[in-house]
Amino acid sequence: MDSAELTRMYDFKGRTVVFTGGTGVLGRVMVRALTGCGAGVAVIARDRGRAASLLSEMKGAGRAVAFEGDATRREDLERAAREVAEEFGHVDCLVNGAGGNHPQATTRPDLSFFDLPEEALRFVFDLNLLGTIFPSQVFGRLLAERGEGVILNVSSMSAVRPLTRVLTYSAAKAGVNSFTQWLAVHLATEYSPRIRVNAVAPGFFLTEQNRFLLTDEETGELTARGQSIIAHTPMRRFGEPEDLLGTVLWLLSPASAFITGIVVPVDGGFSAFGGV
Ligand SMILES: NC(=O)c1ccc[n+]([C@@H]2O[C@H](COP(=O)([O-])OP(=O)(O)OC[C@H]3O[C@@H](n4cnc5c(N)ncnc54)[C@H](OP(=O)(O)O)[C@@H]3O)[C@@H](O)[C@H]2O)c1
Repeated sequence: MDSAELTRMYDFKGRTVVFTGGTGVLGRVMVRALTGCGAGVAVIARDRGRAASLLSEMKGAGRAVAFEGDATRREDLERAAREVAEEFGHVDCLVNGAGGNHPQATTRPDLSFFDLPEEALRFVFDLNLLGTIFPSQVFGRLLAERGEGVILNVSSMSAVRPLTRVLTYSAAKAGVNSFTQWLAVHLATEYSPRIRVNAVAPGFFLTEQNRFLLTDEETGELTARGQSIIAHTPMRRFGEPEDLLGTVLWLLSPASAFITGIVVPVDGGFSAFGGV
């Protein structure tokens, strides 16, 4: 293989990537990279207008188009699939990037495990687990019909070893890891060995959701939790969204043609470090 062949693997021209969570802090950087590599990206977001205005700033060889849909509602996804087919014709890849936590689904001094409200628990499982399974049913069917394609799930470090306090999100992302393995085997053996399913597990990235858990709002200094994370990260920093791109493009591209059912940590060594 020469460098021209290698470069072609990362040329996404003519390929369509359906993307949930493409308006998020991490997702939008991935969408920008994919359009930069020539892909047509169908971003499914709950507020189409907001998503469209965000995507309009992205310039690249490809294009990103917003579609309205909630990842936890199958009927929304079925409608979005019909619209994506009209706009792009076919689907090559699905990225399940929609996800997140809920403040009431995490324990804290004034909210014990025993009192976590049912509604918050259901919200986090619905968003992270069913919000990954439903799009995989709707768009995975299209990949099965074509006999090829790639699904990439977005997991988390907390899936492998649950983080203190973060019960629900950790359990839901552990479900995403299990589902990644299950679906990889199922689609390859029941439909086509040319359909692959993998996941990327980001470590600690400073985003709007966790900024004031990890840094002090006034001084910008690390909180005790932020210090603990950095002390357990051999690379001694938080991740930048761009740190995910190599893994995302690799897993979506033919460069990973013989890889299915894996979860790749992008965590500065956090998961390798025993703390001593
Ligand atoms: N940030 C981190 O440090 C970190 C670490 C590990 C894993 N992750 C995972 O990485 C992914 C992206 O995280 P992020 O930090 O970029 O999150 P974020 O900035 O909070 O963005 C969340 C994204 O999910 C979408 N979303 C939320 N609920 C949705 C629903 N019901 N249907 C469709 N889309 C929905 C939002 O889209 P709209 O609001 O536009 O609909 C938005 O694009 C998530 O799966 C997260 O769990 C993040």
